[in-house]
Amino acid sequence: MSPWSPESWQAKPAKQLPSYPNPAEVARATDTLRRFPPLVFAGEARRLKAHLGRVAQGQAFVLQCGDCAESFDQFSSSAVRDTCRVILQMAVAMTFATGLPVVKMGRLAGQFAKPRSDELETRGDEALPSYRGDIINGAEFTRQARIPDPARMLQAYNQSAATLNLLRAFAQGGYADLHQVHKWTLGFVANSPQGQRYEQLAQQIDDALRFMAACGITGGTMPSIRETEFFTSHEALLLPYEQALTRTDSTTGDWYDVSAHFLWIGDRTRDLGGAHVEFMRGIRNPIGLKVGPSMDENELLRLIEALNPGNEPGRLTLIVRMGADKVADKFPPLLRAVQKSGFGTSWICDPMHGNTIKSSTGYKTRPFDRILSEVRSFFAVHEQEGVQPGGVHLEMTGQDVTECTGGAQAIGDNALSERYHTVCDPRLNASQALELTFLIADELKRLRGGGQTQAAE
Ligand code: PEP
Ligand code: CO
Repeated sequence: MSPWSPESWQAKPAKQLPSYPNPAEVARATDTLRRFPPLVFAGEARRLKAHLGRVAQGQAFVLQCGDCAESFDQFSSSAVRDTCRVILQMAVAMTFATGLPVVKMGRLAGQFAKPRSDELETRGDEALPSYRGDIINGAEFTRQARIPDPARMLQAYNQSAATLNLLRAFAQGGYADLHQVHKWTLGFVANSPQGQRYEQLAQQIDDALRFMAACGITGGTMPSIRETEFFTSHEALLLPYEQALTRTDSTTGDWYDVSAHFLWIGDRTRDLGGAHVEFMRGIRNPIGLKVGPSMDENELLRLIEALNPGNEPGRLTLIVRMGADKVADKFPPLLRAVQKSGFGTSWICDPMHGNTIKSSTGYKTRPFDRILSEVRSFFAVHEQEGVQPGGVHLEMTGQDVTECTGGAQAIGDNALSERYHTVCDPRLNASQALELTFLIADELKRLRGGGQTQAAE
């Protein structure tokens, strides 16, 4: 293979990158970014890699979730806090059900760039360049807003830094203390069946903490009771931005992309000879690869070889996103081929991106039942093959949105217009996310040889 450098991707064909009208402005923005401090540290990325290595051995479970696309306009500390508290709730429910540590990764603090299936968006008689995420252009349907603007990279960096600062405070400053589990429930979820079931779980955690304290195990003696680790992740789509944030680690001399702990390659940009695979093969972060229905065994094995030639534990996570109707057919041959190859890797399920449909009212939506069905089939395939599922990857928010249909709230097509706030794909709201978590937790408990997570319902 030819030598790698942070810019070696530039010699390869690149999909989904914007064409900026003024190259001098791009150079100015990336020069500025190069002088900015790292958002994450290489040592943190290595810790995450070690955790993901344990996931591949069936000793931990990944919960990767957050926005489809973060937005400049909707950014607020309460929005970050609410998403963070739902993720903490989901993680404790899964830990309680499985008895496994849950590795928490947010699609947060950098998830701004979006691949698009269509170059143009048409409304009425007008066709404009598609919106590609706030780091590239504006969502507003005007010719001016849709022009790619490199200065947006600086705003995305700054928002990522502010988000990360808040996430670190939540994770380590007392908010994530297990004694606070009761306080994580959002007002609009509290009286729902999910809210009530969560409250019972929180009560059980309280009892366990009291028992442990009596045995001398407290937040003082055991830091994991009073704080948690929260990692950031996003799709490494906008390569000029990622390149500008790729640095050599002073302790090892290796290259790390310090824009997030974990980066993934999207399903539309995973070409073996393409720019995105070239960039990602050289950074030492733990990385993900989306695996959609057009992937075949041979292509997957070649990608694994390119991205993880040393078979390093925790380096590569495969994120399966087939669609509820395809996963049972498409996934088993891939899983078997990788098992046979001897590559150690873990598989996590993205039940969102293969299940997007247009509602009768014209909104892009995802039915809760299809999402659940894909997760169940994904687990069933693992069970058949005798492999532990590695985790789930969800698009969700702590806000009370109406973007996905169904769930216990029974959101119908007509209700989608009420609070449809996403700038890209439809997300589960906090109530749907918690409901799905409990259903997943029950399934995991069954797979691991237990009954229901809770007898009383
Ligand atoms: C995404 O994760 O937002 C995304 C675009 O996914 P995929 O590459 O799987 O389509
Ligand atoms: Co999405």
